[in-house]
Amino acid sequence: MSISGASGGFDRDKEEFARGARAIVVYPDLGGSSRDPDARLEETAGLAAAIGVEVVGRRAVRVRAPRAATLIGSGQVEELATLGRMDEAGLFVFDAALTPIQQRNLETALEAKVIDRTGLILEIFGERAATAEGRLQVELAHLDYQAGRLVRSWTHLERQRGGFGFLGGPGETQIEADRRLIRDRMARLRRELDQVTRTRGLHRERRQRAPWPVIALVGYTNAGKSTLFNRLTGATVMAEDLLFATLDPTLRQISLPGIDKAILSDTVGFVSELPTQLVAAFKATLEEVVSADLLIHVRDVAHPDSAAQKADVEQVLADIGVGEGTPVIEAWNKLDLLSGEVRDDLLAEAARREDVMALSALSGEGVDNLIATVAGRLTEGHQRYTITLDAGNGAGAAWLHQHGEVLDHAIEGARAVYEVRMAPKDYERFATRD
Ligand code: GTP
Repeated sequence: MSISGASGGFDRDKEEFARGARAIVVYPDLGGSSRDPDARLEETAGLAAAIGVEVVGRRAVRVRAPRAATLIGSGQVEELATLGRMDEAGLFVFDAALTPIQQRNLETALEAKVIDRTGLILEIFGERAATAEGRLQVELAHLDYQAGRLVRSWTHLERQRGGFGFLGGPGETQIEADRRLIRDRMARLRRELDQVTRTRGLHRERRQRAPWPVIALVGYTNAGKSTLFNRLTGATVMAEDLLFATLDPTLRQISLPGIDKAILSDTVGFVSELPTQLVAAFKATLEEVVSADLLIHVRDVAHPDSAAQKADVEQVLADIGVGEGTPVIEAWNKLDLLSGEVRDDLLAEAARREDVMALSALSGEGVDNLIATVAGRLTEGHQRYTITLDAGNGAGAAWLHQHGEVLDHAIEGARAVYEVRMAPKDYERFATRD
């Protein structure tokens, strides 16, 4: 982030930030977490890679008593500093929430930039936000976060490092001026956001009148949503081992047995401990999820923290206001990575449960089952109707094809008779049309 004094603007300059930097990922293990430290390091390294830094080292650090000044112990700081020098690391990514003071002290001691989990996720959101609203929300969250940490914005740090060894903060006047710039910029962003939200509301209304059901894929980051999305649509959406490859939902039209058209939406990966400043930004990218007719919760069942990840996803769904009423099907993904008893047990449990499908998005195994289940859920309660139209009523025939599954049709003189399965409410609408 840089502050350009001349224009009075407050611009984020992502290129300046850490891209290409050699980074060490640190997981301060505070105890009490049921999560596997190695898996945590792996996840954070993946998140760091997603912002283009080169991860050259990983360390889990056991913290018995968190220090107000540096979170981790002084011996541990020393060790990391040595490691940083050896690996020529310019950045430390801490998988924890650091206070501004801790962050600054660590930067001083490690002679490198330090970012914490919130900072990291903000960077990712910043890079991936594709819609106007997503971008504005992310920038707002970023400014909010940055305002509390002005003592150490990148620009200032660069300046200080130029003076080698001099790591005092910028003058108070400078900080005050920066704060004012941030406040002004935040006020402007909020106004822009209002505008964008209003416009988007109009668009959504227009789309909501479209009669197709919306199916949203949700899931923990790296669970395999994009891979499944691709399988289901045959579309080539970016699927790569970069966490958060998608932030804004990607929408595709698909057809399912009995459903001519449905909208499938891929969404950003969820993470644990989503920073509170980010909930609004995240929510803005998940509009399709909130209004979806059905959710497919994609889970990496081969991951050691699979159960905890499921809990995280469900917590976020509750936070963003997805109601109890939305049906959820769990796709137990990455089945191909399991074998023996573990696989057998999992398959047996999936078979017992109606809301669970075990599959591999990569190999395609089990995907047909998922499609059939989703179609079944969406057409639940549909009934068979016999509908007679004038043979020349093309618009009426098109409507029936769009809203139901045409099982049979016959021309009888000047009339066309259709056998259609559809939702009773659609039949009602059709029968009472003018
Ligand atoms: P985010 O964008 O981070 O939320 O990830 P995502 O949930 O969209 O995951 P994505 O589809 O990008 O897959 C993440 C990684 O898991 C990629 O390397 C995929 O190739 C891999 N993957 C996805 N599905 C499967 C699967 O069924 N089996 C195996 N072995 N790997 C899979």
